[in-house]
Amino acid sequence: MRSLSAKPDTVIALYPGSFDPITNGHLDLIARGAILFDRLIVAILRNADKPPLFTVEERIAMLREVVREYPNVEVDSFDGLLVDYATRKRATVLLRGIRAISDYEYELQMALMNRRLRPEIETVFLMAGEAYSFISSRLVKEVIALGGNISGLVPPLVEVQLRKRVLKAK
Ligand code: PNS
Repeated sequence: MRSLSAKPDTVIALYPGSFDPITNGHLDLIARGAILFDRLIVAILRNADKPPLFTVEERIAMLREVVREYPNVEVDSFDGLLVDYATRKRATVLLRGIRAISDYEYELQMALMNRRLRPEIETVFLMAGEAYSFISSRLVKEVIALGGNISGLVPPLVEVQLRKRVLKAK
């Protein structure tokens, strides 16, 4: 199998991830992706190794709310191989963000494995906006659990949900 030989009429991109929860860094990437591609599907991995803070349904609800302003962005979840899901969705692009060099090795490995599995699907990397390059879902959860201020790092509705979840756990 080879890479795509022609541009499809409608370029569908998948933005896969855990999004546990969505941060302003993710949102920045979605805003850029919505401009570059005809359709952008934000896809949450269902069976991740690590136990999530929010259920897939909770994450879908939060994501749908924050992407409401982008008519060509939809939210979904998937199981199994990402490239199989992409094929079912007729997506030809996998979108991923790179914040720093430390992301590169993991992302390169995944991109090359996905290319090996399905060469006609391209991974496209976008650089996260400078203002967001230090934000990760993991750190946001850690900071709020320890009483730190996370405003401006996640959308306001996510901050509210995080506060509820973290306070309930205490
Ligand atoms: O935001 P994350 O948690 O770094 O996203 C990782 C994700 C969901 C993109 C990756 O784990 C994935 O694609 N999983 C699906 C299973 C799969 O296809 N594995 C082989 C990819 S190399």
